[in-house]
Amino acid sequence: MKEKILAAYQSRFDGIPLLVRAPGRINLIGEHTDYNQGWVLPGAIDKCLWFALGPSETNCRLAALDVQEETTFSLGDLHPAGTNWAAYVEAVVQELGGRGYAVNPFQGVFGGDIPLGSGLSSSAALCCGLISGIARLSGFTLDRPEVALVAQAAEHRIGLNCGLMDQYAVLYGRKAQLILLDCKSLDVQYFPLETGDYSLVLLNSCIKHELAAGSGYNERRQSCEAVAAHIRQQHPEVESLRDVTADLLEAARPALDPDDFRRAAYVLAENDRVHRTVAALQRNDLETVGSLLFDAHAGMRHEYEVTIPEIDLLVDLARAQSGVLGARMMGGGFGGCTINLVKTAKKNTILENIIEGYRTQTDIQPEVIDVRVSEGLQVLEA
Ligand code: GLA
Repeated sequence: MKEKILAAYQSRFDGIPLLVRAPGRINLIGEHTDYNQGWVLPGAIDKCLWFALGPSETNCRLAALDVQEETTFSLGDLHPAGTNWAAYVEAVVQELGGRGYAVNPFQGVFGGDIPLGSGLSSSAALCCGLISGIARLSGFTLDRPEVALVAQAAEHRIGLNCGLMDQYAVLYGRKAQLILLDCKSLDVQYFPLETGDYSLVLLNSCIKHELAAGSGYNERRQSCEAVAAHIRQQHPEVESLRDVTADLLEAARPALDPDDFRRAAYVLAENDRVHRTVAALQRNDLETVGSLLFDAHAGMRHEYEVTIPEIDLLVDLARAQSGVLGARMMGGGFGGCTINLVKTAKKNTILENIIEGYRTQTDIQPEVIDVRVSEGLQVLEA
């Protein structure tokens, strides 16, 4: 991959580029908790985007090899429009400029193997990779928390009011370690991912999600913030749902919109599941981890309502197989992948059965994505 990107750069431009590797991520558990200042348990993966970037004389030029598209723009005339990759590029540059960073014109190519729109954070990889590369080329330094904030702000410009899980996973990933991120303090703690006789396998529903375009993601966030704001009136110490106990939420229930209440209850339960998952991993209790994954899916399906029938089907099919300890939708929802904890010795049969069931009922061939938890973003000289 690295060689391919380098060769593509050298066929278009002169000189030796800077190389950036920006991985995608998985999340074992803790969905829609990040923007509520809760906890998440992601890790960077071995699927990534590679960038080859160099200085340009005038305009900025970037080619997206996988989709064979190219964008050209001037630093003085930025108009991120729509939700495609080129809009993210301009949004990143605009955000850096808005924060006072002097961005120099750049040119380059990028591409990789993170499936787009499948909940593996290709957009966080794109933004974090570009920001890190642009900073190095332009001669300014950004620490990882600042890269994450700029990348998050770029997503907000595009229209997705996301939290910080994806950016932290991309930037802080470590080989074979999950990251327990406290989204209030932004403290990062690492836990070895040891799954013994079991493997984590992703199944892509091949229904692409478009989180930014009015999908309900932002609406869920608004519900959570409305509940926190309501409780704050009586309890000024409450900044977010992170500070809301089950008792406080129950006391507020009569005054809350029922949808908002249900969504907030999901978030409280999901935070609790993250802690129980960490405790179970520490005592090697994979059965409990698996059943927490199933519970998390049920919460997203019935309470938070961010799943779709195809994803529910993948989880139901997984649950029916012997040797599957747990499965759930991963990421923001409305499409994308499931993450499954399956007995390695039975993996092939399990996957065949799920794939066959899914294909029969949907006419769609789901994609198996093998991932390994890997290092976070790296900037390298070619
Ligand atoms: C998307 C967002 C993240 C997070 C997840 C859901 O991936 O970018 O910030 O909210 O959805 O957990």
